[in-house]
Amino acid sequence: MNKAQSEHILVCIAWPYANSDIHQGNVTGSHLPGDIYARFQRLRGNHVVMVSGSDSHGTPVTVKAEELGRSTLETYEHYHARFLDLFRRLGISYDLFTSTHTENHFRVSQDMFLQLQKNGYLYRKVTPQMYSPEAGQFLPDRYVEGTCPNCGYTGARGDQCDNCNTLFESAAELINPRSKRDNTSLVLRDTEHFFLDLPAIAADSLAEWIHDDKEHWRPQVINFARGFIDGGLIGRAVTRDMDWGIPVPVEGFDNKVLYVWYEAVIGYLSATVEWASNEGDEDAWRDWWQNPDARTLYFIGKDNIPFHTVFWPAQLLGARGLYSDNPHATLNLPTDVPANEFMNMEGRKISGSRNWGVWMLDALDRYDPDPLRYYLTTNMPEARDSDWSWSGFIERNNNELVANWGNLVNRVLSMIGRYFGGIVPEPGALTAADEALLAAIDDGFDDVATFYDGCKFRAAVQEVLRLSTLVNQYLEETSPWATAKKDPAATGRALYVALQAISGLHVLWAPVLPFTSQTVRELLGEDGPLFGESVVRKFHEAARGHLALTYDGAGAAGRWERNIVPAGRHLPAPRPLFTKLEAAVAAEEMARLGVGQ
Ligand code: MF3
Ligand code: ZN
Repeated sequence: MNKAQSEHILVCIAWPYANSDIHQGNVTGSHLPGDIYARFQRLRGNHVVMVSGSDSHGTPVTVKAEELGRSTLETYEHYHARFLDLFRRLGISYDLFTSTHTENHFRVSQDMFLQLQKNGYLYRKVTPQMYSPEAGQFLPDRYVEGTCPNCGYTGARGDQCDNCNTLFESAAELINPRSKRDNTSLVLRDTEHFFLDLPAIAADSLAEWIHDDKEHWRPQVINFARGFIDGGLIGRAVTRDMDWGIPVPVEGFDNKVLYVWYEAVIGYLSATVEWASNEGDEDAWRDWWQNPDARTLYFIGKDNIPFHTVFWPAQLLGARGLYSDNPHATLNLPTDVPANEFMNMEGRKISGSRNWGVWMLDALDRYDPDPLRYYLTTNMPEARDSDWSWSGFIERNNNELVANWGNLVNRVLSMIGRYFGGIVPEPGALTAADEALLAAIDDGFDDVATFYDGCKFRAAVQEVLRLSTLVNQYLEETSPWATAKKDPAATGRALYVALQAISGLHVLWAPVLPFTSQTVRELLGEDGPLFGESVVRKFHEAARGHLALTYDGAGAAGRWERNIVPAGRHLPAPRPLFTKLEAAVAAEEMARLGVGQ
């Protein structure tokens, strides 16, 4: 693909709350599909920027900090640093993984607020909120406990009764509301907030947009979004009484911050702006946000569908004119939101508090990244909830990575070593079967591309595995080991052809298996990396510094093709790509989870 055809593609991935470690459900839900997609598009020669960051504000982080007895800032920094470490080791190749706690993000969030206000989409409203006379502050619903008006349960939370499952619109519905912090009673007090006028935005533009061509969206995503918008929207508070977060850029709103649901999604825009400035080209972000030909995709879990298909598009539409001379210009709206369903583990819901999950950073101490990525891709919850099982992980690793793909690479390279001293043999004239095999691999560059491009990653893996099986069958049929003595030319031809097939296959695998594909590339004697490198950098800003993961993509673009490995090339000594796992590993892992054998 030449430069003129290459597209600008923004890969947006849900911002994880900086309040817990990342488990396999988070990875397969958003980070990994986004990464596979980004790597594929880079290989195709497209201009990719892949962004996300730590969602550092809101009660999820403050509640966790109180639990840990640490400051909120420390808590956010602790998990943020662990995210960077995880993504680097797992090969989640963010161009920028930053955080919502940066000067830049504060400014962009406030700019969008002011633009929404200027366009008439924010209104003020006074509502009663729970106030703690003891602490002298308003309390978020999350910190309120009381008696359920429906069933009388005394431990009901401000947002929901866990006994009868009643949802409350406000904690004011509770009888005898108390503070969860110190158990003192709470009173209602009036407080003023800004609300986003979602009904007005829906009437002006959002309803039209959601009914526009969305044929390519996953049915569960588009059906939800249309139902939600058509069902009638209500105004939604964009500010709240809290001291941890982004100040409201309006006088008289001290002790209030921008609501986390409102500002975290703005991270997609602010992170692209930050990325551009890190690159030394302040305006570069515009090629992804103001270019009508750019594509923007959002990789998220299903719990985030309303925020990415309704609220965030509403914010973008409502803030028309932002960062533009044209007051009607809207920043790019989502091209697609390929939301995933959930992954369970061993038949049960993954749960941080019950320690039921695979903590990915921990798993990387015992397993290589590619087998983890592989298993998570084959089980990605694209259409329905899926399940992680340790025995499934071992089977896939052993039967598919080790026995199929790994074995193919290993035996072809070993035979070239054994029979030809590691020098790629001359093929002579290819037979029809040889040509057919290579044609099948070459067709894979179109078929597999269609799957990756359409975010059908499970189908992509199945197809590459099928092609790998074809090459193994070809080796069985040609049996180059059997002809080595009496017909070395036949042996040379078969190994040459299988090697060319491997040269194609390792590229087809690369979005899912970037580490081992890089190894194969080296074993094929190719120079230069398949992909760029992930680097953790420290950025200094006026008021605070932050760590971020960055991607140095220099020179690694546009490799979506089958390179010929020329006859006569001296190949390095082979080494295995994958390690077989013993069945006992499953029992060990179940024991770690506290499940007896
Ligand atoms: N941190 C929130 C969550 O994990 C929101 C993530 S997506 C965002 O559900 F764009 F809103 F940040
Ligand atoms: Zn109840």
